[in-house]
Amino acid sequence: MLESNITEKSLKELTESYYSIDSLANYIDIYRISKEDPVDFWNTIAERNFSWRKKWDNVLNWNKEEATVKWFEGAKLNITENCIDRHLATKGNQTAIIWEPNDPSEEAQHITYNELSSRVNKMANVLKNNGIKKGDRVCVYLPMIPELAVTVLACARIGAIHSVVFAGFSATALASRINDSECKILIAADGSYRGAKKLNLKSIVDEALEECPSIETVIVFNRVNLDIDMKAGRDRWLDKELSYVDDVCEAEEMDAEDELFILYTSGSTGKPKGMVHTTAGYMVYSAFSFKNVFQYKDNDIYWCTADIGWITGHSYIVYGPLLNGATTVMFEGVPSYPDYGRFWEIIEKYKVNQFYTAPTAIRALANHDIAFVNKYDLSSLKVLGSVGEPINEEAWNWYNDNIGKKKSPIVDTWWQTETGGIMISPIPFVTPTKPTFATLPLPGIQPTLLDSDGNEIEGNGCSGRLCIKYPWPSIARTVYGDHQRYKDTYFSAFEGMYFTGDGALRDEVGYYRITGRVDDVVIVSGHNLGTAPIENAINEHPAVAESAVIGFPHDIKGNALAGFVILKDESRDHDNLQKEINAIISSQIGPIAKLDRIHFVSGLPKTRSGKIMRRILRKVSSNEMENLGDTSTLLDPTIVDEVITEVKAVL
Ligand code: PRX
Repeated sequence: MLESNITEKSLKELTESYYSIDSLANYIDIYRISKEDPVDFWNTIAERNFSWRKKWDNVLNWNKEEATVKWFEGAKLNITENCIDRHLATKGNQTAIIWEPNDPSEEAQHITYNELSSRVNKMANVLKNNGIKKGDRVCVYLPMIPELAVTVLACARIGAIHSVVFAGFSATALASRINDSECKILIAADGSYRGAKKLNLKSIVDEALEECPSIETVIVFNRVNLDIDMKAGRDRWLDKELSYVDDVCEAEEMDAEDELFILYTSGSTGKPKGMVHTTAGYMVYSAFSFKNVFQYKDNDIYWCTADIGWITGHSYIVYGPLLNGATTVMFEGVPSYPDYGRFWEIIEKYKVNQFYTAPTAIRALANHDIAFVNKYDLSSLKVLGSVGEPINEEAWNWYNDNIGKKKSPIVDTWWQTETGGIMISPIPFVTPTKPTFATLPLPGIQPTLLDSDGNEIEGNGCSGRLCIKYPWPSIARTVYGDHQRYKDTYFSAFEGMYFTGDGALRDEVGYYRITGRVDDVVIVSGHNLGTAPIENAINEHPAVAESAVIGFPHDIKGNALAGFVILKDESRDHDNLQKEINAIISSQIGPIAKLDRIHFVSGLPKTRSGKIMRRILRKVSSNEMENLGDTSTLLDPTIVDEVITEVKAVL
């Protein structure tokens, strides 16, 4: 680890600059202080940078045995007063959100803080008129349109808990998320634009709602003018609802630990986990991390290309930027429409200063003619970000050379739905970057590597399982309705520590590089997919006896999925079966979970105790046949030869 050589700076001076790190020496000192006295550190940040209706009685209440964490207990606040109201006096006419539509010929929206305030308050009144109160769960199933950000904030305004479901998920996935948290209302759109395609979202909603008894009302925004069914007594048009309300809605007074939102993430087993984030801690950390990781300065234009359906969109399109009074760009479309220059065109159009995207998008765009990049003036860029999966060296260099022109530092940000905010990342112009390394933890974050026996690995130049030793304000508090699952998943592998599920290495200077999941979660195009739910979907096919799904390296997507399937009925035509299996996966989970390869085999490599040795399937699928490791515990080693033959046939 880097050591501080600045000792004479007064504590007062440092305290004042906690919120904004501007040099390596400053980072080192602030990091040290945050480690020595985390409670005082977060107390200071919370006190100086937010507006509270009442201050807290206690900074941190942490019970290791029960895996419960509470931050800023006793405080009263509303996060929307921090995102919107407190900026109105000085920034009312500044743009809060720039919305860029899918079709570049459609008019963009520049929503000022004043307008955002009015739209959020109106939407909050619509929710109230429809019977929504503090604590009710609101499911939001919307494409990347301003109404999505507005609805999220409207929920927070009245203390309702938002549960955003990515609008690419299938009816089954939507229904299971609605039912898990018993949402009372659903906010949806008739359809969405995705490049040249028009998708019908309302038909997905209608199908999902056949299984969702808790939903009383559906509010529908007309985005693409589809001819849809509106169910009498249940479905209402948003435009009409908005016409009944005014734009004044008093913000609900929330306790620090009141639930702000639920966001579902894949687990390595069974159903998705509804990660619960609460109000004050999430606010403090999303704001603090945004400010530092992007070095956002007044009047900058910041753009994150994620969807608000994922945590990146929650923390770094909506909350983090708005808490800092920033201008945040929201893009409805895809990087390939109308052509592969769309991202770069938008950067030129709005003179974007900070650009945050995913390695999968970088790799896909790097595969096209560089003329798509060189056509545009990218000189406004100051900081480039990457998130969601490890960024390989080639993609890092392409991003650095062609987009950043070697002058914009790349922040490779490691974090998770569960962490609420960026945990390990360079701070631009402060931390020297290194390709493929997320580098150093943000202040307040204490990562450590553990060996398989659960011992902390001391020193540098080592690798192990990545854990976090001490709570931070935006750690997810529980899995909705299932605290035992939260304890088992995150706090039981290594006593008293949060286990991330990732493996990492620490180089000679203490920089971290995330090497990937060590559990049965695969990151495909930056999307976190559990293999178990995909296997469950495959097994629903009547011809399937058993299946195993694994991830293997893919040039563009980072990882792709392969399924090994044992059939009950060997006589079935394999081509048709492949299509049918992918159709089931698509309808149960969504098209992102489709398998790139399906191998029909007569058996799976299993241990004597019946556990599938996925490691072997992974190695074979990654074309590492010579390096299969210990196979001595296999029940039937001949299966491996069959698996190799099947995989070689498609390589
Ligand atoms: O494996 C890590 C990978 O994405 C996982 C978290 O996925 P999710 O909860 O969907 O959140 C994604 C956006 C924050 C992690 O456990 N991951 C995320 N960022 C990185 C990463 N892997 C390597 N490098 C990263 N920068």
